[in-house]
Amino acid sequence: MEIRDVATDDLDALWDLSDRAFGPIPRSERERAKAPVLEAIDDGRVLGCYDGGRLVGSGRYLPMEQWWHGAAVPMGGVASVYVTPEERGRGVGARLAGELVELIAKRGMPLSMLYPATAPVYRRVGFEHAGGQYWITLPAEALRTLGAGPVKVRRAGPDDAAEVVEVLARAHRTARDSGPFDRGIGHTRHILSAPDTYAYLAEDGFLHYRWNGDATGLVVDRAVAASAETARALWSVVGSGSSTARTVRACVSPYDPLLWQLRDRSEDDLCRRSWMLRVVDAPAAIAARGFPAHVATEIMIGVEDESRPGNAGTWLLSVSGGRGTLTRTDEPAAVRVPARGLAALFAGVPVATLRRSGLLEGGDEATDLTAAFTATAFAVDEF
Ligand SMILES: CC(C)(COP(=O)(O)OP(=O)(O)OC[C@H]1O[C@@H](n2cnc3c(N)ncnc32)[C@H](O)[C@@H]1OP(=O)(O)O)[C@@H](O)C(=O)NCCC(=O)NCCS
Repeated sequence: MEIRDVATDDLDALWDLSDRAFGPIPRSERERAKAPVLEAIDDGRVLGCYDGGRLVGSGRYLPMEQWWHGAAVPMGGVASVYVTPEERGRGVGARLAGELVELIAKRGMPLSMLYPATAPVYRRVGFEHAGGQYWITLPAEALRTLGAGPVKVRRAGPDDAAEVVEVLARAHRTARDSGPFDRGIGHTRHILSAPDTYAYLAEDGFLHYRWNGDATGLVVDRAVAASAETARALWSVVGSGSSTARTVRACVSPYDPLLWQLRDRSEDDLCRRSWMLRVVDAPAAIAARGFPAHVATEIMIGVEDESRPGNAGTWLLSVSGGRGTLTRTDEPAAVRVPARGLAALFAGVPVATLRRSGLLEGGDEATDLTAAFTATAFAVDEF
């Protein structure tokens, strides 16, 4: 078995793998998916596992930037990992995941994330549970009664892609968010041209929603606003449909301002889907991440990382003035983490949790790390 770039001629074999892994995709969706897949193949971002000339598995990455404490970090999102049923359970999936991490490293991206259908495959190569994608279900009436307020919003279309990217970046930067990602103007244009979806734009906010499958409710894929008034205006657009759409399912942050704007919130119906992170290049990832401006700490961290030896060894982590650095040192480590522990720490999982789950060893000095890496990592987009 050999892992190499998927050939354009193997597109049908790729669809066949995908159908058998995730179920058939409707023809119309496949047509829309074709151009981005061909672009990814051309860009050398789709790997295939070949047994001779037969494609038996595949996986790809999508280039993006992920916000970490308000700073954009280049990140490769691993997607569409599948192995043909008759070859499963023989290490192909883990090999593909490992090769994708190497490819992401080669392309200069210090982080990788993915939504796992199953975690063990990815844990094998250093990914760990890091953040969540949160969905809340609400009565549409609860949004209608928020009241539209003075902020004007307008319908947005594919030509607004650059402005949407800019509005979202500003909102995530100023909120010091961790986890949401930006897939660029081209992808945003693709999203804004999707059939049967509706988008609205304000000076400091963006809303994107659609009907659910049986048109009894609405699904909000994204509603991000930098001010309370704009949040109210955007959510009111959704709530205005309450006479026909009884419920709204919305992708939110667990600290989404909406949850504090609702008139009543005694019981949340909030679902969490986990996503995993891999620190691909530790010094570059730390240098690109944002940190709380008031935290100043220095600590020796020992990292074990068999599959990315460049991350392994003892590092001096310095955090001050909102930035961080990792510098190699010969001093003894005060704290030790495996690659998976480093990923979870990076994503804001508290030291007490890491220690008690066996993902971090070390003394009291580690306590400062919780304050340095503090984050409630959430993601909004699917991929
Ligand atoms: C998930 C999938 C890619 C795994 O591929 P594979 O070649 O069978 O996986 P591997 O043989 O490399 O297994 C690697 C590890 O994952 C574990 N694993 C594999 N499939 C698993 C599953 N369905 N549930 C739980 N663990 C699983 C293996 O036991 C092994 O664990 P170990 O490291 O403890 O030994 C494959 O089953 C598949 O294509 N499934 C359908 C599509 C899918 O779910 N893709 C994942 C999208 S995120």
